[in-house]
Amino acid sequence: MAKIVAGVFTSHVPAIGAALDNGKTAEPYWQRVFGGYEKSKEWIAKVKPDVCIVVFNDHATAFSVDIVPTFALGCAEEFIPADEGWGPRPVPVVKGHPELAAHIAQSVILDEFDLTIVNKMEVDHGLTVPLSLMFGQPDEWPCKIIPLAVNVVLFPPPTGNRCYNLGKAIRKAVESYPEDLRVAIFGTGGMSHQISGQRAGLINSEFDKAFLDALATDPGKAVGIKHVEYMREAGAEGIEMVMWLVARGALDEEVNEVYRFYTVPASNTAVGHLILENKVA
Ligand code: DHB
Ligand code: FE
Repeated sequence: MAKIVAGVFTSHVPAIGAALDNGKTAEPYWQRVFGGYEKSKEWIAKVKPDVCIVVFNDHATAFSVDIVPTFALGCAEEFIPADEGWGPRPVPVVKGHPELAAHIAQSVILDEFDLTIVNKMEVDHGLTVPLSLMFGQPDEWPCKIIPLAVNVVLFPPPTGNRCYNLGKAIRKAVESYPEDLRVAIFGTGGMSHQISGQRAGLINSEFDKAFLDALATDPGKAVGIKHVEYMREAGAEGIEMVMWLVARGALDEEVNEVYRFYTVPASNTAVGHLILENKVA
């Protein structure tokens, strides 16, 4: 049977992708960020997941405001990196796992989570930057990727509780898939940041670190955070953190913390990163 072996949590700043693509990783500002992912790259090269489910948000790239699905599961064979205004990132095409994705869609929809099935979608920095941070710059991504896009762009995003429960349903789906696949689940976006308005540039390290602590040891505490609290404490775009709860919900209540990293700033954003493993992986 397939199983979820670990959760990877990371911010997804577009400037990180630009730094990588333009050969700036050795600059001290960026070395501070990329240095924090060296151990993670070693870890994932050892763990070698067959499939990564990447919970991310589209930034009005694949979905304009004409259609805004709350949860959209990528069931296609492949997903092309999107042009976000500077040409597509020079990263490999993302290869999907249509069979597992269709199985997850069936299982969670019959469990009463109304996912949107997406058979064609370009993927923006929300998905490609976490892949770059974890896998570097390979010619091909080393595993299949199932994108799960969550609406955090247009009010109302889903609640943290809904995200957490969807994670549980995804776990149940994965564990009822007959092939022996090792699956990792990524929660991406966040941490504290606000990119426009009077509070632009807001970063709240205390809130971010408490969120990382809660994810690692007391997920119920993170699940209870309301939208208004994310907005007040972590800035308007800090709401992206609810996506981490989908990934957290797919793990055991008690997990092993493998690795943690936090630095500020990267562009307008705090960079937070956590790796959690199920105890029996
Ligand atoms: C920034 C961060 C984001 O999450 C994003 O989607 C766009 C910009 C930033 O910090 O610049
Ligand atoms: Fe974002």
